[in-house]
Amino acid sequence: MCGIVGYVGERNAAPILMKGLQKLEYRGYDSAGIAVHDGKKVNIYKAKGRLKVLEERHPSDKISGTLGIGHTRWATHGEPSELNSHPHVSGKIAVVHNGIIENYQRLKLWLEEKGYHFVSETDTEVAAHLVNHFYEGNLLQALQRAIALLEGSFALGVLSSDVPDTLVAVRKSSPLIVGIGQNENFIASDIPAILEHTRNVYLLDDGDMVVLKKNRIRMYNSLGERIEKPVFNVTWDADMAEKGGYAHFMVKEINETPKVLHDTLNPRIDKDGRFSLSEISKFSAMANTLKRLFIVGCGTAYNAAMLGKYYIEKMARIPVEVEYASEFRYRKPLIGKGDACIVISQSGETADTLAAMREAQRCGAMVVAITNVVGSSVSREADEVFYTWAGPEIAVASTKAYSAQLMALYIIGTELAFRVGGIDEDYYRELLTALTAIPKQAQTVLDNVARIQQLAAERFNAKNVFYIGRGMDCPLSMESALKLKEICYTHAEAFAAGELKHGPLALLENGSLVVALMTQESLLDKTISNMIECRTRNAYLVGIAMEGNIRAVETADDCILIPRTVECFAPMLAAIAAQLFAYYISTHKGVDVDKPRNLAKSVTVE
Ligand code: AGP
Repeated sequence: MCGIVGYVGERNAAPILMKGLQKLEYRGYDSAGIAVHDGKKVNIYKAKGRLKVLEERHPSDKISGTLGIGHTRWATHGEPSELNSHPHVSGKIAVVHNGIIENYQRLKLWLEEKGYHFVSETDTEVAAHLVNHFYEGNLLQALQRAIALLEGSFALGVLSSDVPDTLVAVRKSSPLIVGIGQNENFIASDIPAILEHTRNVYLLDDGDMVVLKKNRIRMYNSLGERIEKPVFNVTWDADMAEKGGYAHFMVKEINETPKVLHDTLNPRIDKDGRFSLSEISKFSAMANTLKRLFIVGCGTAYNAAMLGKYYIEKMARIPVEVEYASEFRYRKPLIGKGDACIVISQSGETADTLAAMREAQRCGAMVVAITNVVGSSVSREADEVFYTWAGPEIAVASTKAYSAQLMALYIIGTELAFRVGGIDEDYYRELLTALTAIPKQAQTVLDNVARIQQLAAERFNAKNVFYIGRGMDCPLSMESALKLKEICYTHAEAFAAGELKHGPLALLENGSLVVALMTQESLLDKTISNMIECRTRNAYLVGIAMEGNIRAVETADDCILIPRTVECFAPMLAAIAAQLFAYYISTHKGVDVDKPRNLAKSVTVE
């Protein structure tokens, strides 16, 4: 996720671009840049780091020119650096991009054969060269021809040094709006970037292109036909708009889960419809010789690791040890040559996780990072990196990044299992097909939010909440309880359902809330017996189960249903329901959802 903004008008563009980018910094903040046309040529200003570094180095009030584009970056291809930051330039053309160009490697080879020289590691640079390649004096036509070759998602803003009064842009699967001003017009990834200047916008659809001059806006559809659109009048306040109309970042991020799952999965499926682990080729080459696999992380990342263990051991029959990074780093773990260690970290900066990773490397193990932040310490120090393409996660409670971590583990686990002969071709295909359906099914969970809202409204006062589950529902119950603790300040515990009668059952009293994760239908009888034990102690039972699970519905007092998938992937869908349940309880309790007390998003100290 990145933020782009563009301006054409009568005022100086640079301060407007900088202010706009400030409002988009939530979309990415590892580097920034602007391109401003001074009437004769396009001048480029870039800096690694947050926007304030760019402003310090190139004060915007000293930059003249009334046409410009700007970008705040969340690195995907290529580490955060000045060279990789946008705008990217090719000949007369300057480009800012938000999204991922999936076929950039092929296009890069093609462009190199034509003599284009690449200076960055980004996917975006191919877009700049392509527009340049097709440019014969008509920017719109050049952009049209360029995007016909691009696969993936992109919102592009484009300038040319020989056109001092025009900005062109396109939107495909990445957000872009057009702001309508008086003798000035704007583009932006999100409304807050331009709200200070206008409340009238056009909402572009996929494939739409736009040509902006200071007093003219022309829009075209993907076929190049002129189109008109209704003016959308923004009535929200800026803060609300930054969250895309959602009340909190957390719920916005949960709602991004289908896209995040798609973005994490899709680039890992090759043209033959198989998983490609090219990013972690050394690790996957170890599949048949791997002695032991360790997975370490903290908090939510640890909980994802536990789910990964269940899956990988079940499918690949490779022994997996999961450890808290804070324990692993100090206990002289029995890990060494021939072993591999996967470290999971959304931020890539968690101190304990970094230390655990260094310990694994010191002992001679191969280290793979599953992380969300390109250029983070974990990504730089790991032997290989498997990115979760979840985009910036702002809310302290991890939601979409957890879902992406699960997806990453499922992809790696399935491919490993096939390579070691744990599953055959038919089952491999079945699993791959099921995973491909998950992003859409995640959307169905979100669409059915009303039931969860109602349940949260009825139960938010529960003093003690117990999450129980068997098999892969067991690690999911740990993550579900963690969500409730951190954003609801509710005492919540997670138990392997079979463990209840070995002690925890003593905690149950009249009105205790028990949430039973019931996605593992091969263990359903057992889980139901445990639920009945809870009912006998007057607990209130909420179930989360796959649709069609009639016995779950009959046993629980209330049941949240998720779409049906193969049993081992169901926790990925149930997690979304559990996150929403915690979110709505939190709002009922009036907790500061995005910034709960005593916590920080990135724990860079011990
Ligand atoms: C999750 O909701 C928490 N905020 C926390 O447990 C988090 O997952 C943990 O601190 C690890 O962070 P990381 O993934 O950035 O390493």
